[in-house]
Amino acid sequence: MIKFTILSTKGGVGKTTLTANLGALLADLGLRVLLVDADVQPSLSKYFPLAAAKPVAGLTDVIVRGEVTDASIAPTMYQNLDVIVSDDPEGNLPHWLLHRIDRGFRLRLALQSPAVARSYDCVLIDTSGAIGPLQDAAALAADILISPITPEILSAREFKDGTMELLDRLEPSSALGAALGPLKALIYRQDRTADARMIASGIREDFIKLKGRVSVLDTVVPHAKAHKEAATLRMPVHRHEPRRDGVTPSAYTVMHRLAWELIPNLRGIYADAVSQRERMA
Ligand SMILES: Nc1ncnc2c1ncn2[C@@H]1O[C@H](COP(=O)(O)OP(=O)(O)OP(=O)(O)O)[C@@H](O)[C@H]1O
Ligand SMILES: [Mg+2]
Repeated sequence: MIKFTILSTKGGVGKTTLTANLGALLADLGLRVLLVDADVQPSLSKYFPLAAAKPVAGLTDVIVRGEVTDASIAPTMYQNLDVIVSDDPEGNLPHWLLHRIDRGFRLRLALQSPAVARSYDCVLIDTSGAIGPLQDAAALAADILISPITPEILSAREFKDGTMELLDRLEPSSALGAALGPLKALIYRQDRTADARMIASGIREDFIKLKGRVSVLDTVVPHAKAHKEAATLRMPVHRHEPRRDGVTPSAYTVMHRLAWELIPNLRGIYADAVSQRERMA
């Protein structure tokens, strides 16, 4: 089983969209996927339609018990794709966590429950942009952290400072037996301007200097309206845009590249949304 946490120190960069679409593609590639909405604003919980009207329990139960039970897992209407919904509209959970000595490790331990281990190949955790105990717990629950970054100068600066602060704060946890996973930056929502290309290459150079603390993924997710449209339709973007004319690759192609880069064992496996001939054209 592999666990990813999607996080960013900046709001609105595309975390939830990325978590949903990556999870849905991995599910279509045959993995059993559990999404975890660790943002008190429950966007991921509502991203895909659920199979049943209202889940019995959600994130609060998971964090407070320190365990995932079947009651806290809600199947979506897509095969292989389930979700632990965020059910804390008042934002009590971060306060509750703050007073726990094990706050950083609570989600990590919960995700070791048999209900997760026996039923899933992959867990993807979405977080809020706000620094706090829930974001820390989500970061420490992952094997790999993915941080989407928009190639705009202010975001790039904020990413560098914010990410370094996050690593400085969480890396000491390895002394407590919970090593922070490697952080992979994903250039996300890149438009076709020269400015965006220049900043994207600046980000790569900056991160080479950070001596292995952060790496930048080769895959770039372009700015494309398909992501917004698919969100409106509540469907995975690779299904919504199986092919595309022009220089920008289709969402189907981009999401496969990303999944294969993150989990190389999946290379050559396709979601069967389009025929063999049309694939990756
Ligand atoms: N690749 C993309 N191209 C264009 N627009 C995108 C792309 N990915 C996401 N978006 C749009 O960007 C907006 C913000 O996305 P999203 O809600 O996923 O960000 P977030 O980081 O989860 O925000 P928050 O910090 O509020 O949780 C949404 O309107 C979404 O449809
Ligand atoms: Mg979000």
